[in-house]
Amino acid sequence: MDEKSKAIGSLPVPNVQSLSEEFHGSESIPLRYLRAEAELDPVVSDDDWEIPIVDFSRLIDPELSAQESARLHLACRDWGFFQLINHNIPYEVIEKVKVDVTKFFKLPLEEKKACRQLPGNLEGYGQLFVMSEDQKLDWADILYLNTQPVKQRNMSFWPSQPLTFRHTLDKYSSELYLLADVVLGFMAKNLGINPEVFANMFKDGIQSVRVNYYPPCPLAEKVLGFSPHSDGSLITLVLQANQVQGLQIKKNGGWVTVKPLSGAFVVNIGDSLEILSNGIYQSIEHRAIVNKEKERISIAAFHSPNSDFMIGPLPDISGVNEARYRTLNNKDFIKLFFSAKLEGKSLLDGMKLNR
Ligand code: OGA
Ligand code: NI
Repeated sequence: MDEKSKAIGSLPVPNVQSLSEEFHGSESIPLRYLRAEAELDPVVSDDDWEIPIVDFSRLIDPELSAQESARLHLACRDWGFFQLINHNIPYEVIEKVKVDVTKFFKLPLEEKKACRQLPGNLEGYGQLFVMSEDQKLDWADILYLNTQPVKQRNMSFWPSQPLTFRHTLDKYSSELYLLADVVLGFMAKNLGINPEVFANMFKDGIQSVRVNYYPPCPLAEKVLGFSPHSDGSLITLVLQANQVQGLQIKKNGGWVTVKPLSGAFVVNIGDSLEILSNGIYQSIEHRAIVNKEKERISIAAFHSPNSDFMIGPLPDISGVNEARYRTLNNKDFIKLFFSAKLEGKSLLDGMKLNR
């Protein structure tokens, strides 16, 4: 992240994993975690919806590419969320990252604190988006790291335990960076974006990784692991690190639980791509709920244009002569994104023109 964005960050809040241990079996938890909306918002019956599946091996097969590309376009346009299967990332790379992040969260708190967030900084072990002392809090701890371009890494926030962590994340990050580039390339083509403009956008594109740790909560149905939000990225690739479900997406006014296929990535459109595509693709609000007995771990990799890129409707997009969003440079866009608490898609509302 750039110099300017170092001035932002989150207020310090309690470690949720410790709270989870402290309040294990209890009938109450601290008030700041109780969320009326966790219970009030309707959850659509689980069987009503399934997010689309996109098969990467078909996308890159010259014979099948056109057909799969069309499916990708519909998934992006109508859902903003899909599962990516047959993505070619070696099994060991995925297994190792699951094992090492799980081991990291099992370390004693004191050891995890070796990579804790520092005031005014986004990276490290802690929480994000806490802007005021009276704000409701999410039931989760996170590890947030800048992973690409490599020169943006700050190794002091990268866990040194387990010993293989850094190597494992490095591999995972590089593989995902390449995959995201290819997937974005197909999306850009579907949107009619000039290949040169696209190459320019994702050259030195930014990747950051957020590992979400949702400890069990005795009042699981009254808390949220992750407040409703949309991601600021172009696309996010989320890996479910254990078998516990919890990701929900907003669809027709209700919440739909995502049921990740084993080995698949859940991919979603972020705010930057909504803006660049002038709203043809839209970022979708999502949230995470937590489990009463089991911990849940997910690994989200956010992919954004390089820091100099201007985030605004691209000239090649159809209907762009009526730009629906303001244009902002990516540095300022990222800064804006991290300087407010999460409130659905409120950030994007602020980027819209002609309201
Ligand atoms: C995120 C996110 C969902 C999950 O990290 O932005 O939405 O399943 N994560 O943890
Ligand atoms: Ni998200």
